[in-house]
Amino acid sequence: MSNASLPDPSNRLSKDPLANKAQAWSALFSEPMSELVKRYTASVGFDQRLWRADIAGSRAHAEMLAAQGVIDAQDLADIQRGLAQISADIEAGNFEWKLDLEDVHLNIEARLTALVGDAGKRLHTGRSRNDQVATDVRLWLRGEIDQLAGLLAEMQRALVELAAQHSDTVMPGYTHMQVAQPVSFAHHLLAYVEMFARDADRLVDVRKRVNQLPLGAAALAGTSYPLDRERVARTLGFDGICQNSLDAVSDRDFALEFSAAASICMIHVSRLSEEIVLWMSQNFGFIDLADRYCTGSSIMPQKRNPDVAELARGKSGRVIGHLMGLLTLMKGQPLTYNKDNQEDKEPLFDTVDTLADTLRIMAEMVGGITVKADAMERAALKGYATATDLADYLVKKGLAFRDAHEAVAHAVKVAIQRGVDLSELQLAELQALQPAISDDVFEALTLRGSLAARKVIGGTAPVQVLAQVARHRQRLG
Ligand code: ARG
Repeated sequence: MSNASLPDPSNRLSKDPLANKAQAWSALFSEPMSELVKRYTASVGFDQRLWRADIAGSRAHAEMLAAQGVIDAQDLADIQRGLAQISADIEAGNFEWKLDLEDVHLNIEARLTALVGDAGKRLHTGRSRNDQVATDVRLWLRGEIDQLAGLLAEMQRALVELAAQHSDTVMPGYTHMQVAQPVSFAHHLLAYVEMFARDADRLVDVRKRVNQLPLGAAALAGTSYPLDRERVARTLGFDGICQNSLDAVSDRDFALEFSAAASICMIHVSRLSEEIVLWMSQNFGFIDLADRYCTGSSIMPQKRNPDVAELARGKSGRVIGHLMGLLTLMKGQPLTYNKDNQEDKEPLFDTVDTLADTLRIMAEMVGGITVKADAMERAALKGYATATDLADYLVKKGLAFRDAHEAVAHAVKVAIQRGVDLSELQLAELQALQPAISDDVFEALTLRGSLAARKVIGGTAPVQVLAQVARHRQRLG
C-alpha cells in the first residue's frame, strides 16, 4: 500500500479547535490521538461530578474579566447565558459528555462556544485548566466538608441521646479486653462523642486550607492579564488566595489533609462498629439492633448479623487506602502541575461518599440500639471490677496505696477460690486480710457505689456524665 492511499489524519479534523481532541491544543499536532491514549487520559467519566464548581468558577472568572475590561459586557452576557443553559441541561440530564473532549472543563467550554460563539472562546483568557481544576476541586471539597460536618453532628446527637438514657446503666469497662472497672454505658458512648467532636474540629481546620483560591495562577507562572484575584475569591466565598502560582497549581496537600482527617474519622467509626459487633454477640448480649439494620444467613436460620457495623469497619480500609494512594501520588512529583494529579479525584470522591454514607447509616443505627442493662450489669459483676474501689477504701482508712493494692490482691484470690464476688465475702474474711475494714466496705464494693465515687471531671459518676450530656446538647444545638 502506498503512502498516498493513506488518509491524511489532519483532513479528518474539524476546524473547530475544541470539537476534536487532537486539535484542542494547536495546529502543531499532525495526527489524532490514538483511541487507547484518548481513553487512558480522559477523566470526563468521573470529573463531570465537578460541573457545578466548574461553572461557578467560570462565572466568577468571566464577571471579573468584564469588570477589568478584558472582555466586554456583551461577551459576559453571552457567557452567562450559555453557562446558565449548560447548567440547566446537565441538571436535566440533557448534556452530552464527550470522551473526545477529555475532561469536564473542555466539555463545558466546547459546549459554551457551540452555544454562544466567540464569547465562549474568550472565557479561557488568563486561565489554564491547571488553576481551573485546582479551583474546582477545592470548591467541591469545601461543600462536601460542610455536608460531612452536618453528618458528624447527627452522629454525635444520636450517641448523646442514647447516653442521656443510660447514665445509671452499669457495664464493665475494659483494659486489655479484661474487665477493669465499672463504667456507665453513657460514659462509654460519650467517649465516642469526644472522638467525633475532634473529627469535626479537624474538618473545620482542614477547610481553612482548602478554601484558598488558585485561579490567577494560570498554567503555573501567573498571568499578564490584569486579573482581580481578590474579587474572584470574594465571589466564590474563598477565605483567601493562594500566594504562589507554582504552589497553587501543583500541590494537593489540602486533599491529603482531608483524606487523613476522613481516615481518622473512619477509624473511630470502625472501633465503634467493632464494639457493636461484640456487644451484639451471644457471648456479650449487651445490646440488640433493630431488625432493619440486620441481615440473615442463607443457611443458618437462627442468624441475625450486624452486617452494617461490619461493613463500616471494613470500609475504613478503603478510606485509609485512598490516603495511601494520594500520598504516593504526590510523593515524586516535581513542580508544578503534572498529569498525575488527575488521579486525585476518584480517591477523593470515594472517600467523601464512603464517609458520608457510613456516618448517615451509623447515626441511624445507633438510634435503633436496644440496651440490655441486666446483661451489662451481670458482666460487670463477673471480673472483680470493684477491686480498685476496695483498695481506695483502704487508702481512706489510712493504708498506703501499694499496701492496699496488695491486701486487695489477697482478697480477690480468696474470692476466686470461693467462686464469689468481692461484695459476697464475709466481713470476717475481709477483716482477716486487713483489720482496718469495717462494715461500711460493702457500699464501696457495689457497682453503683463504684460509679458514684468517680466524680472527678471526666469520670463515670452519673452526676458528671449528665453534666457532659448537657454540655454536648448545648454545643450541638
Ligand atoms: N483533567 C485534568 C486534571 O484533572 C485537568 C487539568 C489538565 N491540565 C493539563 N495541563 N493537562 O488534572
